Amino acid sequence: MQKYFHIVTYGCQMNVHESEKIAGMLSELGYKNCNEMTEADIVVFNTCCIRENAENHAFGNIGMLKKLKSQRRDLIIAVGGCLPQQIGKAGDLHEKFPYVDIIFGTHNLHKLKEYVQLKEKQKKSVISIEEDSGFICEDEKPLRTSYPNAWVNITYGCNNFCSYCIVPYVRGRERSRKSENIIAEAEELVAKGYKEITLLGQNVNSYGNGTDDLSFPRLLERIAKIEGKFRLRFMTSHPKDFSEELAKVISENPKICRCVHLPVQSGSDVVLKAMNRKYTAQDYKNKIAVLRKYVPDCALTTDLIVGFPGETDEDFEKTLELVRSINYSSAFTFVYSKRNGTVAAGMPEQIPEEISKTRIMKLVELVNSLTREQSLKYVGKTVEILCEGYDEKKDMYLGRDEFGRMGYFKSDKDAIGDFVNIKILKANGVSLVGERV
Ligand code: 5AD
Ligand code: SF4
Repeated sequence: MQKYFHIVTYGCQMNVHESEKIAGMLSELGYKNCNEMTEADIVVFNTCCIRENAENHAFGNIGMLKKLKSQRRDLIIAVGGCLPQQIGKAGDLHEKFPYVDIIFGTHNLHKLKEYVQLKEKQKKSVISIEEDSGFICEDEKPLRTSYPNAWVNITYGCNNFCSYCIVPYVRGRERSRKSENIIAEAEELVAKGYKEITLLGQNVNSYGNGTDDLSFPRLLERIAKIEGKFRLRFMTSHPKDFSEELAKVISENPKICRCVHLPVQSGSDVVLKAMNRKYTAQDYKNKIAVLRKYVPDCALTTDLIVGFPGETDEDFEKTLELVRSINYSSAFTFVYSKRNGTVAAGMPEQIPEEISKTRIMKLVELVNSLTREQSLKYVGKTVEILCEGYDEKKDMYLGRDEFGRMGYFKSDKDAIGDFVNIKILKANGVSLVGERV
C-alpha cells in the first residue's frame, strides 16, 4: 500500500532546502508527498529556532497532532531542524510531546532514513541529537520542489557569533563543501533544465576559508561559466567578507543576478559593535559604494533588527538614515528576539516590547515606501521574468526579474520555467503586473 509523507517547514531558505533533502530520503523509503497532514503516514516538523515566535509556532503545531496520533497509533511523527539542537530542548520536546516518535537535529539529518526504518520495523522511538562533527553528507538526493529554481548548499554552520544569534550554537562551525561537488551539482541541475541556481550558506563570502579550495568569487565565476541559459544567485553574505573581487565577478558575468542580499542589521555603530558584527555603518556604506562602482544598477536587500538591547532612539534613527541612504529594494525586518545561550541574552538593557513595536512599524513603513517608489519606476519598461508559478486566484503566471522583483502576467500556455519578456503596465506595491511582448 502506498505510504505518504507531509513535511511542515519553518524558517529560512536553508530549511526549505533541508526539507527537500528530507523528502528525498522519505521517497527512497517508498513514501510519496501529500498535502494534508491527516492523510500522511509520517509527519515531519522541520523546525527553526532563530526567533522565539518561529519556535512557539512549531511547539503549537506539534501539540495539535496529539489528537491525530490518538486516532491513528501507527502515524509516525518526527521533529528535526535546529529547535531540538538547542541544549536541553530535545528533552523538553520529549517530555511535552511523548507521542513524538523521532527527534533529530541538524547534525544527523542524513540519518533520518535509518530512524524511520527503526520505527517502522522495530517500533523503536529515537531521540538522537548529535554534536557537530564537521561531517558533510554528500549522499542526500533532494526531492526538489521549486522548479525552475534550485538551491545548492555551499557552506554549513557559522563562525561569526553575532551576539544575538543562535545559529552558530545549533548549526555548528562553518564548513565548506568541496568545490568539485558543488560544481558537479550545478552542472547536473542546468542539464536537467533548472533555470535559477541559488548558492546557500550562512556566510557564503567566507566559502573555502581554511582550505586550499576555490575562494567564493572564483567558485561563483566557475559556475557562471556553465553552458546554457540560467541565473545564478547566492545568499547570505556577511558585509565584513564582501570583497571588491566579488563585485568585479558580478559585473563580468551576466548570469550572476545583479541583486545582492547584504544584511546590515543596524545603522548605529554602538549597536553594531554590541552585535559583534565587525563593521561600522561607514564600512558598510563603503562596501556598497564599491559594489555600485562595478554594478551601478545592482539591487540591494538586507536584514534589519530593531530593539537590540540598549538600542536608543538615536541608534534607531541611524538605522532609518542608513536604510534611506542605501535605498534598498526590499528588506526583512525583525524585532530582536532573546535567545537563551547567546551573549545578547545576558545584556542588561532589554528593550520593552512597546518600544520595539513602534520602531518596527516605522521601519516597515520606510522600507515599503522605498519598495513602492522603485516599483513605480518599472511602469512602461520591459523586463525579463523567469516564470516560476501560476496564481489560481489571479489567473496569472508569476516570476521574478534578475533584481528579484515579482511580476504577474497572463499567458495562454504554461509558461513555468520560461524566460518571458513582459511590459510593465502597473505597479502594486511590491509586485508588478505586465503583458507578454
Ligand atoms: N532576533 C531577531 N532577529 C534575528 N536574526 C537572527 N537572530 C535574531 C534574533 N535573535 C535575524 C538577522 C539575520 C536573519 C536571518 O535573522 O537579521 O540576518
Ligand atoms: Fe547568525 Fe551572524 Fe552567523 Fe548570520 S552571520 S548566522 S546572523 S551568527
